[in-house]
Amino acid sequence: MSTAIYPGSFDPVTYGHIDIIKRASTIFDKVIVAVLDNPRKKALFLVPERVKMLEEVTKDIPNVEIDSFSGLLIDYARSKDVNIAVRGLRAMTDFDYELHMAQTNFLISGGKLETVFLTTDLAYSYLCSSTVREIASFNGDVSQSVPESVAKLLKSKYGY
Ligand code: PNS
Repeated sequence: MSTAIYPGSFDPVTYGHIDIIKRASTIFDKVIVAVLDNPRKKALFLVPERVKMLEEVTKDIPNVEIDSFSGLLIDYARSKDVNIAVRGLRAMTDFDYELHMAQTNFLISGGKLETVFLTTDLAYSYLCSSTVREIASFNGDVSQSVPESVAKLLKSKYGY
């Protein structure tokens, strides 16, 4: 059985992430979407909130599991006995960072953890969680970027 991990911050999950999850779920038998619990990065949503959000927006995809992890991705992947990570590539601006991360993970895993890139659907190539947060913080319309359930949570986070 082929399993892949899709790691990320998902703060919050966007239609771009959901598109990658859906497409990965047609390629692999199982996809584990893993939210990084990073104490060094101040997030808007707590990890359990992000996990719940992801569970809600992926509830109709049977071969997707939501989890969280802390520490190195290679250690988490090893603990799950998985050797494929999936990442989305939106544009060249993502490339340097993603290439560096993929090569580092390959190196420090002793050649075990491969990264598979899916190119983002053009419709979502402009999307990123930080812009969504910024728009939502000024009570702007994020309905083109995130599902309604996420938009509602953003509104209440920012007190609207
Ligand atoms: O959604 P993001 O913030 O771009 O996701 C980045 C993520 C979570 C995939 C990456 O930061 C990560 O895997 N962090 C865990 C720590 C780690 O393994 N670092 C070494 C890779 S360079």
